[in-house]
Amino acid sequence: MSIEEMAERTAIVADGGGQPLLEVEDLRVRFESRGRRVNAVNGLSYRLYEGRMLAIIGESGSGKSVSSRALMGLLPGSARISGSARFQGRQLLGLPDREMRRHRGADIAMVFQDPARSLNPTMRIGAQITEAVRAHGDVDKRAAYERAMELLQLVRLPAPERRFHEYPHQLSGGMRQRVMIAIALAADPKLLIADEATTALDVTTQAQIMELLLELQERLGMAIILISHDLGLAATYAHDVIVMYAGRAVEYAPASTLFAAVRMPYTEALLGAIPRLERPPHSPLPVTPGQPPDLTALPAGCPFEPRCPRAQDDCRTEAPPFTEHEPGHWWACYHPCEGSSS
Ligand SMILES: Nc1ncnc2c1ncn2[C@@H]1O[C@H](COP(=O)(O)OP(=O)(O)OP(=O)(O)O)[C@@H](O)[C@H]1O
Ligand code: SF4
Ligand SMILES: [Mg+2]
Repeated sequence: MSIEEMAERTAIVADGGGQPLLEVEDLRVRFESRGRRVNAVNGLSYRLYEGRMLAIIGESGSGKSVSSRALMGLLPGSARISGSARFQGRQLLGLPDREMRRHRGADIAMVFQDPARSLNPTMRIGAQITEAVRAHGDVDKRAAYERAMELLQLVRLPAPERRFHEYPHQLSGGMRQRVMIAIALAADPKLLIADEATTALDVTTQAQIMELLLELQERLGMAIILISHDLGLAATYAHDVIVMYAGRAVEYAPASTLFAAVRMPYTEALLGAIPRLERPPHSPLPVTPGQPPDLTALPAGCPFEPRCPRAQDDCRTEAPPFTEHEPGHWWACYHPCEGSSS
């Protein structure tokens, strides 16, 4: 796939085009340790425009987190990264640590799944937010307090004056996630990456946090990458959707196009999966029998072939290319579904 072709088409997707905020091209990440090589991301390309929400969906181990952490310079030293990731035209991959830290927070911020672990349990909420505010700007104590209160109000934390003086364990899971979002917004990022940010929450709280993200996106004009197992979440909230399998994009389209006519058998299987209610985070999706391929030994053919109900002999020979088959709609499959969503 050429990024130029994708650009042309994605411009249609993205309300008239303009410069992309983030442009990822042929991103590859492998981990090497003790003679073992894990091919975690295997040629991922996409473009994200200002004010859009892109959902990256896939089973556990499909490379969603690794591909996003690569953009933030947050992978361990055993990671070998290649390809390109330009943010407002500037290459992020290979930036020295000091420069990367400047991007982190100020341009791109990340919210993780588990606020209980991401927040410091021994520090009051207020201190954690003011610390984030002061890390990104030369502000005095008073101004940092005011900005922190403004952020807590922005994320609609109930009774912010009181919560400011409380510890994380005194807050509910939903409130902690709001605090994490407030911290992520401290430096006015242009892109927020929410990695399973609502997975640990009950369904009602999850919906409230998603509504909040959507509202913040509109008010602040941010772009959001929403990483999730949950195709339903993508259908409800995202503008564009990438479905990943074994470190590759296998289907990509604006959400309305994708859900009107799912083409990849894998996406169809995800759509048919049992709702995620009550399932512990990071448990494998009951997608379809079988396991994703071993990332240390990827097959020559389509990686979904052993699990695919539509597989034929030709699927085993060579991996299908990821191609734009219909305007704005990309997929990697030799025998796509007929086009009605299940
Ligand atoms: N530091 C590491 N060393 C070796 N392999 C790793 C490392 N980090 C991740 N991996 C492997 O890379 C692959 C992709 O992992 P990643 O965390 O991106 O999956 P994911 O799609 O985010 O899954 P989940 O939905 O469970 O969060 C997995 O097979 C994982 O085991
Ligand atoms: S290429 Fe073949 S095995 Fe792969 S998803 Fe399509 S039909 Fe299934
Ligand atoms: Mg992950």
